Amino acid sequence: MHVLGIDTSCDDTGVAIVSNGRNIGSAHLSSQVDLHGPYGGVVPEVASRAHANVLLPLLRQTLKDADLDARDLHGVAVTQGPGLVGCLLVGIAVAKSFAYGCGLPLVGVNHLHAHIYSAVFASEDEPPDFPHVALIVSGGHTAVYLVRSWEKMVRLASTRDDAAGEGFDKVANLLNLGYPGGPVIEKRAQRWAGGETIPFPRPLTGPTMAFSFSGLKTAVARYIESVPYGRDSEIDRICFSFQAAVADSLVEKTLMAAQQHRVKTITLTGGVAANRTIRETMAKAAASNGMRLVTPPVSLCTDNGVMVAGLGTILLEKGYRSNWDMDAMP
Ligand code: KG4
Ligand code: ZN
Repeated sequence: MHVLGIDTSCDDTGVAIVSNGRNIGSAHLSSQVDLHGPYGGVVPEVASRAHANVLLPLLRQTLKDADLDARDLHGVAVTQGPGLVGCLLVGIAVAKSFAYGCGLPLVGVNHLHAHIYSAVFASEDEPPDFPHVALIVSGGHTAVYLVRSWEKMVRLASTRDDAAGEGFDKVANLLNLGYPGGPVIEKRAQRWAGGETIPFPRPLTGPTMAFSFSGLKTAVARYIESVPYGRDSEIDRICFSFQAAVADSLVEKTLMAAQQHRVKTITLTGGVAANRTIRETMAKAAASNGMRLVTPPVSLCTDNGVMVAGLGTILLEKGYRSNWDMDAMP
């Protein structure tokens, strides 16, 4: 079963063809980082226009690279939400027209569920068994789910304020490191020569499963105001210490969820899951608690069409269909 997947939820245009929900036939991604970089964040109108410019050529290329004709496909999956409404509508309009024109079934996919599904593309691991606990950690969302099946994902807790990726982006902004913040903070943290870390607070430690990152961001802002941070090594130290605080918080809440629900498998997905320190911290904590961590390759942590095609396949197989009047659910 070959399914086309389209994701235009934010600032990446992702198109892919996946076979049987697992095998990537071809995948293309067009990043808008250069367009939004000068603004320090995603500008919705700029993002929608960029999706509209690149989506059809990308779709053509994806079919060509998979060596497939539209007639070889079995369905079309598209991100329905959450995301930026103008961006979602571009993907939905193209998916609908393509599916209608080619006589293919269409299915709208939840973007967060698609990230969670991306764990099946982990390189060596067996796919996650059910039920498992999934941490999805991205620029717009930070939440932990109990995944009973690919159709049944129950949100256990989410962030009370900023998402973790938003925290990375805001801290990078405070340090004038550019956008997006995650990759550059990771790089600066790796450069830090070591020594005493800055004891930034670990927010909402204790019994609650909810996350919070705005207090941590404020603590970093206060610290920056209070010290002459211009030296490169001090910026590296701030990045290292901030990243460690985020990692600790993500690990604590995810393990709490896994323990409460007595599951032995956890997954880590979403843009922030590309962070090697967070992956390693989570892997160590999981192992020392007798749990298995499954996480997709770094290239599939940030937004992409593969995860949408993958989850779309499962949903289509189970009989889910969207109507031609399907709308965005931002
Ligand atoms: O999943 P994603 O591509 O888009 C959303 O659905 O939000 O995630 C983007 C977020 C951004 O906030 C970005 O700074 C963060 O993921 N990110 C990272 C890394 N790579 C991307 N955060 C930490 N470390 C990274 N290496
Ligand atoms: Zn995403």
